[in-house]
Amino acid sequence: MDDLLSKLITEKSILVTAGAGGVGKTTTAAALGLVAALETRRKVLILTVDPARRLADAMGLANFGNVVTRVDISGFAHPHPHGALYAAMLDTKASWDDLVARYAPNMRVRQEILANPIYANISGRFVQSHDYIAMEALYDIYNRGEFDLIVVDTPPSRNAIDFLDAPERMAEFFSSKLLRWITAPYRSRLVAAAFKPFYQVADRILGSQFLAEVAEFFMLFQSMYEGFIERANSVAGVLRSPQCSFVVVATPEYVPMREAEFFLGALKERGLNLGAMIVNRSLPDYLRDPHARRAAGSMVAEPAKLAERGFAGADAKVVASVLAEVGSTFVDFAGLAAEERSLLATLSVEPNRVLRAPYLETDVADLPALARIGYNIKSADISTRGNPRK
Ligand SMILES: Nc1ncnc2c1ncn2[C@@H]1O[C@H](COP(=O)(O)OP(=O)(O)OP(=O)(O)O)[C@@H](O)[C@H]1O
Ligand SMILES: [Mg+2]
Repeated sequence: MDDLLSKLITEKSILVTAGAGGVGKTTTAAALGLVAALETRRKVLILTVDPARRLADAMGLANFGNVVTRVDISGFAHPHPHGALYAAMLDTKASWDDLVARYAPNMRVRQEILANPIYANISGRFVQSHDYIAMEALYDIYNRGEFDLIVVDTPPSRNAIDFLDAPERMAEFFSSKLLRWITAPYRSRLVAAAFKPFYQVADRILGSQFLAEVAEFFMLFQSMYEGFIERANSVAGVLRSPQCSFVVVATPEYVPMREAEFFLGALKERGLNLGAMIVNRSLPDYLRDPHARRAAGSMVAEPAKLAERGFAGADAKVVASVLAEVGSTFVDFAGLAAEERSLLATLSVEPNRVLRAPYLETDVADLPALARIGYNIKSADISTRGNPRK
């Protein structure tokens, strides 16, 4: 197993996988969690957001609901005793309800918030609420101290940076002018009188109850203000602590790599720790082997000559066309592998932080496939080559 990876899964308490949509954040989080449980004696939790159905099944996550489930890893032959693996799937709505339950000043407010239609909308759909609640749920589990390592998958946000700022943004939101403005008529009769015409028009356009519900919701929510701000700041504090590292995931293509680079910059600006950057779906090493490339080259250049040697009794012409075809496919892939290398070389990140995870031909939908990825993550080995940015 790779040294850097081994260090991360042994020493950290929180690993957060982050990156652009579809690059393999969920898969990587699950693979890291699995190898951590197999290779250390730690109690590991994979806190996942949106696993594909089959992957969820493989981890025994039949239902949503923030329920922590033990994952059976006894099927892996292992020479030494290993840790334990658990998984939970983040349920945004349930997490919001928990949060309200915790910070509502009394039972009445709590029930009014939970019954408010705007609340139902915000907690269920609002994208940023998803980002925030993922961090919030992480903080909650971390504080309970039941796990040695929590590997967190992040939601597919439109902008991967969003969730980094979610705790701060939530705090800002609570102290925002907009919020005070919306709730003003409900707090003061004088303002209410001044705003009446506006509210009447707005009600006609948006539906008679809409603004009243919005205002009521924010009024109720403001009663939780202090608890919330304090909490959001603590969440941000944990993310910044040395116990927490980010694992930035990208695929070896131009756009995801540039997005990853942007993300690396954002981590730095915010004082968050980079554990590793993982280039997922990386092409296999044999494509970079000069002997293999030469062999493929001669299959393309002289298929007839090679076919003369005879092949399974097949007609030499048939064999020649098969060889030429196979050879040219290999050459194409080798070209892609070379591009991948030059892309890696343009990364302005400490070279020893860059890892590659292999591309699997099959869908990653069971524990053995996750183990294949996790155990084959290795150094991208870009330290020896010139980095044009440096
Ligand atoms: N190394 C790999 N080899 C082959 N297939 C992979 C690999 N990594 C991920 N996949 C597949 O790619 C798809 C997307 O992966 P995944 O769901 O992990 O991405 P994600 O970054 O979590 O996406 P989203 O942004 O939507 O949450 C899945 O079908 C997964 O099985
Ligand atoms: Mg995902």
